[in-house]
Amino acid sequence: MASVFTNIGNWVNERAPGLMPVYRKHMTEYYAPKNFNFWYYFGVLALVVLVNQLLTGIFLTMNYKPSAAEVAPGVSAAFASVEYIMRDVSWGWLIRYMHSTGASLFFVVVYLHMFRGLLYGSYKKPRELVWILGMLIFLALMAEAFLGYVLPWGNMSFWGAKVIISLFGTIPWIGPSLVEWIMGDYLPADATLNRFFALHVIALPLVLLLLVVLHIFALHEVGSNNPDGVEIKKGPKGNRWSEKAPADGIPFHPYYTLHDMVGIGFFLIIASFIIFYAPTFGGWFLEHDNFVPANNLATPEHIKPVWYFTPFYAILRMVPSFFGTAIWGVIAMFGAIVLLFLVPWLDRGTVKSVRYRGTGYKVALGLFALSFFMLGAVGAGVSAEMIPKIFGADADSTFIENLFGRFWTIVYFAFFAFLWAYTHFGYEKTKPVPDRVTTHD
Ligand code: HEM
Repeated sequence: MASVFTNIGNWVNERAPGLMPVYRKHMTEYYAPKNFNFWYYFGVLALVVLVNQLLTGIFLTMNYKPSAAEVAPGVSAAFASVEYIMRDVSWGWLIRYMHSTGASLFFVVVYLHMFRGLLYGSYKKPRELVWILGMLIFLALMAEAFLGYVLPWGNMSFWGAKVIISLFGTIPWIGPSLVEWIMGDYLPADATLNRFFALHVIALPLVLLLLVVLHIFALHEVGSNNPDGVEIKKGPKGNRWSEKAPADGIPFHPYYTLHDMVGIGFFLIIASFIIFYAPTFGGWFLEHDNFVPANNLATPEHIKPVWYFTPFYAILRMVPSFFGTAIWGVIAMFGAIVLLFLVPWLDRGTVKSVRYRGTGYKVALGLFALSFFMLGAVGAGVSAEMIPKIFGADADSTFIENLFGRFWTIVYFAFFAFLWAYTHFGYEKTKPVPDRVTTHD
């Protein structure tokens, strides 16, 4: 068997000698730090989910119909085709649940992957471009998830689309025309569904794929960071594979490819458990209101996005209208994402890893993560449900929710201001960073 592979390899090599060096550069001669930990699984897991979304998406497209035309009273062809996939297409239910669960797991994995960046300062020089490309991926992913959510043309698809597209209406002068232009109608309608389908199945997946390739190429130019935040390329040279390679680096293939299999294995067990036993995840991954066909005359009781958008949605809701316009909430919501783009320049600290950073950074990062959870709870309506239980049915729940939500909105934004001031004015007291990664054996 091995000789068959060698022969095929030689055959290809003779005809395309340029391929082997590319393979070596990114796999067998890509020297990754040997001290990667748990947090370093999420990049490869994001790749696994991306492939899952692309493959299951192709099969869903074979039976899905992007049409709002009615096939029964009050039921669109799109909604009916999703039900058809669930009930009649062989294994259709599995494909759909793999795709819908995959969407939520994508965000779980990507949020943890981003948090790793903040923990170990992976956004700092020379990896700013890796971070920026990552943030562009995050934006594309949010757009992709939003568009996908509209496709089943359930009632939450319809009203979610209406709320989100209407945000553009707050832009002065061009807002109202822009909303009509995006929808291709006065309401989310057949034209909207058709274009969202086109964008969801072809335009954004292409953009995502391109960005992911650039993200990894950009990373491989500078090399991976690690939990100690030590630049292994600047350390001693020479390991058992090469005299020129960093002493603290090991070949990505076969060492990390094998190591990643362990993480992928655990991840697939957890994913399978959700897909088979809790595919809607109690309404968090697939909302109950989206099992009801779209109806422009019946607004769902609580319009709220899927969990991964809820922190940003809470910021939108918590910022009040001034001067007769609601644009401030929209600006704050987009600002919350723009600030993440700017982290490499807001953080002037020289130490990368949280292991050696000042206490102020550790506390601020902890509070920032907490604010993200708390805002998520506000956006998902958890706080609105809890307040009467905690403060009694007579309590002014809107007032309490606003107080709570605004407090955590301030904490969210304060993180960025603190980060800049703390590192700019030299308040940070760091610990000495070791010369080499802390795993030498
Ligand atoms: C589809 C989404 C994404 C995929 C498939 C992806 C893939 C990867 C992979 C395979 C790695 C190398 C392995 C690792 O370090 O874990 C990596 C590293 C990295 N990614 Fe992503 N990524 C995605 C999204 C993001 C996002 C949203 C950000 C943040 C804005 C980001 C920031 C980074 C950074 C800073 C590194 C370097 C980490 C280090 O060396 O410590 N990525 N990514």
